[in-house]
Amino acid sequence: MVKTKDIHLILKKINLFSSLDDQSLKLIEKNMKKVNLEPDEYICTEGEPGDRMFVIASGKVRVLKKGKGKSLIEITMLRDGSIAGIMSLFEKKPRSATLQAYNKVQVWELDYKTFQNILNKNPTISQEFLAVLSRYLRRETKAIADLISYDEDERLKVAMFDTKPYIQKIFDEQNDNRYSFRYFKPRLNLDTTSLATGFKVVCVFVNDSINADVVEELNRLGIEMIALRCAGYNNVDIEACKKYAISVAYVPAYSPHAVAEHTVALMMACNRRIHKANNRIREGNFSLDGLVGFDMYGKTAGIIGTGKIGKCAIDILLGFGCKILAYDKFPDSTISRKKGVEYVKLDKLLRNSDIISLHVPLNPETHYMINKESIKKMKRGVMLINTSRGGLVDTKALIEGLVNGHIGSAGLDVYEEEIEYFFEDFSNTVITDEILARLTTFNNVMITSHMGFLTNEALTNIAKTTIENISEYEKGKRGSQLTNTIIKN
Ligand code: NAI
Repeated sequence: MVKTKDIHLILKKINLFSSLDDQSLKLIEKNMKKVNLEPDEYICTEGEPGDRMFVIASGKVRVLKKGKGKSLIEITMLRDGSIAGIMSLFEKKPRSATLQAYNKVQVWELDYKTFQNILNKNPTISQEFLAVLSRYLRRETKAIADLISYDEDERLKVAMFDTKPYIQKIFDEQNDNRYSFRYFKPRLNLDTTSLATGFKVVCVFVNDSINADVVEELNRLGIEMIALRCAGYNNVDIEACKKYAISVAYVPAYSPHAVAEHTVALMMACNRRIHKANNRIREGNFSLDGLVGFDMYGKTAGIIGTGKIGKCAIDILLGFGCKILAYDKFPDSTISRKKGVEYVKLDKLLRNSDIISLHVPLNPETHYMINKESIKKMKRGVMLINTSRGGLVDTKALIEGLVNGHIGSAGLDVYEEEIEYFFEDFSNTVITDEILARLTTFNNVMITSHMGFLTNEALTNIAKTTIENISEYEKGKRGSQLTNTIIKN
């Protein structure tokens, strides 16, 4: 005896109909047609226009697909409570398979025309369907992201942008096969966000642009964490990340020594004209004219920003026997007490320093803190060093200062428009950035391509901390729960 299942209960279990109220559901049921089939009878055939949805109320139904030649291959069996052809209610597409009764079967059919009539006459039902479909789409997108955010070995996948061979090498060494790093050469920006499809975590560096538009797009793709492999985070729109509850972690300190030592390397190169001397020797010119430097001993170094890197730079300069003037929004009384560092107002530092070195982060307060006015206050012939962020210096004002001789020399590891050029090889093309091109013409300017961090120790620490940050995320920590979050509540 065939037992007919309660059609109402079956429809209730189908996502599409589950949110309809009883009255609407009854209307749908009323418009469905009950059909009884004998064993082997066909319900529909592959390729014919699909114009009905079937609910199997009782019995079993074979699902068959055309094989080679004319043979039909059984691909699955549907049982009572199953539904087939639901898309036929929305568009008439050729059937993708043949359905055949396996035993005595009862199906309830709803045809396209009847369904469309119901929708036309009942706007509330239509609206409910639209809401269901939109929830479906959202779940579907998330479900796909969930499925593919782990690789075949069940390791969390991480999309790493702006990757270079030395970064890949160090991350592979430190990773110990825990995460599936996918190394992408391009930087993350609005044109490249699609590369993050199927990931939950992106890993970025100083010149990736994580602005509001990019964050919105990352959120749409289901990204839950941005792991910065750097200390500065001026390139991230924090408010946008908060809005979409995307966690952001950074590497607060990887080796302040690396950056401080590079800072002093630039100072010494500018001072003793190492770059010029080296070029001369290569040309067979062993003369010393124009290479006269100065003793570091006894000179006044002005350190703007006495955080981790500023402090390391101070230690090295104290070793040379320099006098240190310091400026920081939050002076550290320990270094003034123990090391004799004198905290002064910015104006005093600018007026009295022989060397000025920048170690503050870039933010709206510090943007262009070195400008036409501040340069005027500096000693004539001052040396300016910037290993922090390009945007701290108004480069046009710097060029003017170099041209009129007010600035004696400059050592720059960063440049405000570096995103266009730094880290890449442009030796076969023309540099079209007039300001950068002009800067490279000064023989008293030493430029490096944002490489203060580039030591084995710093890279190893960057990789270790980034992997720890990702592992916290994987363990379920989010937002301000992360040790190295940049999002404070
Ligand atoms: P930090 O956070 O330890 O120190 C920053 C210092 O700046 C703090 O003492 C803070 O009080 C001070 N400060 C912040 N805003 C200020 C303001 N408006 N006026 C005066 N002082 C202010 O940071 P850390 O590790 O010393 O790094 C400094 C900067 O170095 C980073 O923000 C980053 O931009 C740059 N950096 C450059 C690298 C390179 O490869 N060239 C590598 C790593 C960092």
